Amino acid sequence: MQVQRSSITSDILGRYYTNSYVGAILVSSMGAISPESVLDLGAGDGVLTAAAAKIWQDATYYTVDIDENARSASLPKLLGSSFRHHVGDALSSAIEKELGLNLGCADLAICNPPYIRHQWRKGFASILEDAGLSHVLPKLADMPAEILFIAQNLRFLRKHGRLGLIVPDGVIAGERFAGLRNALATEHCIERVIELPRGIFRKTEAKAHILVMSKSGEGPDEILVQRLDESGVLSPELKIRREQATGRLDYSFLARGMGNKRTKQTRIGDVTISLSRGSFSSSQRTKCDFPVLHTTDLGPAVDVVSRKFCMPSALAKQGQFNLAKPGDILVGRVGRNFEEKVCIVKSGTVAVSDCIFILRVAPEHRDSVFAYLKSSPGREALSFSSHGVGAKFLTIDALRNILFKSK
Ligand SMILES: C[S@@+](CC[C@H](N)C(=O)[O-])C[C@H]1O[C@@H](n2cnc3c(N)ncnc32)[C@H](O)[C@@H]1O
Repeated sequence: MQVQRSSITSDILGRYYTNSYVGAILVSSMGAISPESVLDLGAGDGVLTAAAAKIWQDATYYTVDIDENARSASLPKLLGSSFRHHVGDALSSAIEKELGLNLGCADLAICNPPYIRHQWRKGFASILEDAGLSHVLPKLADMPAEILFIAQNLRFLRKHGRLGLIVPDGVIAGERFAGLRNALATEHCIERVIELPRGIFRKTEAKAHILVMSKSGEGPDEILVQRLDESGVLSPELKIRREQATGRLDYSFLARGMGNKRTKQTRIGDVTISLSRGSFSSSQRTKCDFPVLHTTDLGPAVDVVSRKFCMPSALAKQGQFNLAKPGDILVGRVGRNFEEKVCIVKSGTVAVSDCIFILRVAPEHRDSVFAYLKSSPGREALSFSSHGVGAKFLTIDALRNILFKSK
């Protein structure tokens, strides 16, 4: 099987493991049930199965991992015949036979899938189709492993069977996965989302969430959304209607929106004349014989672009690049502390790297938007609006949707 590494981990099989505390929270958030069969695809060292076995002692556990050295392989030997392990590809077409568990029969599944991209295979299309997820991205071949694993789990579950997952931030908050969230909330039933603190996994800074759902469309009309903080305390629950699942389901973002409901605010997008990325990639930037402003040139103390970044006027007049002009607000869009990298062009014309947005707003709103983005609530809004399992990044739509107090 061919796989590509994701941007968040250098491990080709996406082997970063859940800590046992998060495993315990995942299984305890799945409600009062007594499953007879529990499935764990991509079981790794078996943390999720071990947490489940503490609560559901009479169940039979089916674990699968492609890595023959995964510690879950030793569960049958250590814990007895109610633990069955299969070394192999959880996405293979004959997996149910190899595992000895029929499709549509498992009562419960728990899974922290690998966040990698598998080389597309024909069999993936029927996995997605069976689970009602073949339409959730424009191109089937772009389907990341986490969606294939969600689909494979849904195939194994019986009607109303429950699925407890640990999913990357994009699945819960990314615009790209709005169609997936809609399908999971309407064709199936999303019940609960718990945002996990960054750095919860060993070996990676990945941002992730617990997602609890059940198979088939019937179930509660509201999704309960919470956050687990660094000290292990769960926040109060926010209640989101199921039909709102296409929007973001991350607690930090939703809690902020609810807190702001009473103040009259304006969307940045409603006062925007244009919003674009700079033209120069990092490799082009190093070859340019004129200065190109990059995120490393910005920081909390930089309010105004230094004159040393002005482009020679003869070159600027040629009009071949997307350049920032006086009055434009420059907003870092990617990387660590990007939310602190906001400045304004006061004079000259400036070439900008593609890690920076050039935001041109109506002149009467310019000062308010700039002051807001430089303020600490503005920095928080930028940070909460960002996505990313590993590196944080801001999309054009997310920046347009930020609310500021207009005059
Ligand atoms: C993110 S780790 C999670 C491990 C464990 N479930 C946990 O929560 O700690 C993903 C696991 O999936 C396994 N894996 C990757 N691709 C797989 C595939 N195609 N079939 C089965 N297991 C796979 C990796 O070896 C790894 O153990």
